[in-house]
Order: sequence, then structure tokens, then C-alpha cells
Amino acid sequence: MNRNYLAGIAAASILTLSLTACGGSRGGGDAAAEGGSNEGAKIGVAMPTQQSERWIADGENVKSQLEDLGYEVDLQYANDDIPTQVSQIENMINGGVKALVVASIDGTTLTSVLDQAESQDIPVIAYDRLINESDTVDYYTTFDNEEVGVQQATSLLTGLGILDAEGKETGAAGPFDVELFAGSPDDNNATFFWDGAMKTLKPYLDSGVLRVPSGQTDFEQAAILRWLPDTAQDRMEDLLTVGGGERLEGVLSPYDGLSIGIISALTSGGYSADELPVVTGQDAEVGSVKSIIAGEQYSTIFKDVRELGKQAVTMVDALMKGEEPEVNDTETYDNGVKVVPSYLLESEIVTVDNYEESLVETGYYTEDELK
Ligand code: BGC
Repeated sequence: MNRNYLAGIAAASILTLSLTACGGSRGGGDAAAEGGSNEGAKIGVAMPTQQSERWIADGENVKSQLEDLGYEVDLQYANDDIPTQVSQIENMINGGVKALVVASIDGTTLTSVLDQAESQDIPVIAYDRLINESDTVDYYTTFDNEEVGVQQATSLLTGLGILDAEGKETGAAGPFDVELFAGSPDDNNATFFWDGAMKTLKPYLDSGVLRVPSGQTDFEQAAILRWLPDTAQDRMEDLLTVGGGERLEGVLSPYDGLSIGIISALTSGGYSADELPVVTGQDAEVGSVKSIIAGEQYSTIFKDVRELGKQAVTMVDALMKGEEPEVNDTETYDNGVKVVPSYLLESEIVTVDNYEESLVETGYYTEDELK
């Protein structure tokens, strides 16, 4: 056997590997680039909070799928506290992680801790929420967030009878009184949801088919810091006092936790279960799906976090092998320093009419969990 020939092939493969690793950004750390192994490497997974079911499911999915591929996982939740998240990520870096998966609390507060990751060639994947003002974010996986906002507004219009099930205008003239809520201003996703929703509602607001009794139609007025249900409940209680006594017919809510707070305020404000306005949501959390089945909340947006987890894990695995992760969007997510290559997933409107098909038949929930 010709030794030189074999050596030539080996050299060529190493060259191909290193080129792949350099093709995107920092990838796979030193070990992968030098042809070493990241098998069984430790991966840091930083999640924002356990106050919402979706993030618990996200953390569990990512952890178990990484473990199935043989990685060790350091999964931490930060209780929605920014300094806690920063120090958790610092500890992960000091503890020798080879890659970071981060769902940030405030997308702009991680710049300096991520500089530490960069100096150690640790790739960073932004999970669901973009990390802003940092060039250290290598990849991003999320849903099409503007489309989520379009879906929320579309379901509001359908619930009000302005659109039919096929999305066609019914000619309903209203006027329908609605109030609008937005997510946390420090979460990059919140403006995408809001912009998608407002672009969809604007023609109806302009023509007077929709009215906002409070007049609060700016993002800043509608935003709920840290997505807190109690803050949404308080704001809804306040809004009920400024509406001139008219009954509300709809509330745009961008997240199920807020919807629960909003519905509580409406119920204590005198709305009985069968006169509740059309209230939207997001995440298909168990409490809200039950509320939808009971005829209280009208809709939610289902984002299959099993798929999001799978995407993040596929990205980590590619990076650990010195390969370039697959992306399907290289334009949308500019974090202020660079456009972060992203993989976007699709979401779906869920109401009482399709929850069985979307959530039960796909195994996301069992029928029993929704009782
Ligand atoms: C997520 C939503 C979630 C919200 C509140 C957003 O960043 O994309 O799915 O409803 O945070 O947790």
C-alpha cells in the first residue's frame, strides 16, 4: 500500500474539514478543527424561566436529545433574572462546555459574558430569542416570529367574524372594540409578534371596523415587561375603566400566560364565561388549551418545541463535528452587529376546532393532560 497516497488523502480530508469549519463562523472548537473529537463533550444550555411550561419543555427536550447523542448537558434556568443568567453562562464556560445554547432573558445583556465564550472558541447558538448587540452569536433557531404575530391577529379577526375559516372577509362592519397587548420589550421576539399582528390589523383599524377604546396602539403602551401574567392582569383591569362602559369584543394577547391574566381581569370585571371577548395567545400551554376547550380563551399559537429542540441539537452536533449547520434564513435576524444565520420553523393557529388534531394526535399532549 502506498503510504504517501494514504497520507495525501488524510491531509486532504483535514483540509476539507478545516475549510468547512471556517466556512461559517467559529465551529466545533479547537478539537474539531484539529481533527480531534468532541464526542461526549459538555454542552451548556441556558433557559430563562421555569414559570412558563414552554421553557420547561424546551429545556427537557434539548437536554434529552443532546444526551441521546452522547453529550453531557449543563442545563440551567435563571428565574427571569438577568445577573443570574449571566453568572450561569460564566459558570458553564468555566466548567468547560464546548458549545452554548442560550434562550436569553434580555437579548442585549450577554455581550461581555459571550466575549469570554468567543475567547475560548465556544460556539453560541441563540435559542428561540435572538441575542442582540453581540458578534459572538454563531447561529439562531426559532420560529418565523413575524408570522406568529400574523397568525395571532388573523385568529382575532376570525374569532370576531371579520374573516371566515378560509381567511376571506365576511363583510362584517363592526365596529368591534378590542384592546392590544405586546410582549416584553427586552425580548427581540416581542416586536416581531407585534409588527406581524399590527400589519394584519391595520386595515381594519384604519377603516374603523376595529376600535381600540383606550387608544393605546403603540408597542410601548401595550408591552408587558418580562411577560408577567400579573402585569397583564393589572393593565387589563385598568383598561376596563377607560373604555366608556362599552363591552370589549376582542383582546390581542401574544402569550398564553398573559391571556390567563387578561381573562382573570375580565372575569372579575364582570364578564361571564359566555360573554368573554375573543382572546388570543401563544405556546399552547396546558392551562390555555384547557381554557380553549372550556370556551374561555379563543386561540393559541402552537410552536412545536420538540422540533425547535431538535433543530438546536442538530446545530450543536454539526458544530461539534466541525461541520456547518444547515440554515434557511440569512436575512431576517439582524442583531445590531450582524445578520445571524437562522433556521426558522413554522407555527400553527390552534382553536377548539383543531386542538385534537394538532396537539393530541401529534402526541404533544395526551387527552388526559387536557382534562
Ligand atoms: C417566545 C414565546 C413566549 C414568550 C414568553 C418568547 O420569546 O418566543 O413563545 O410566549 O417568549 O415566554
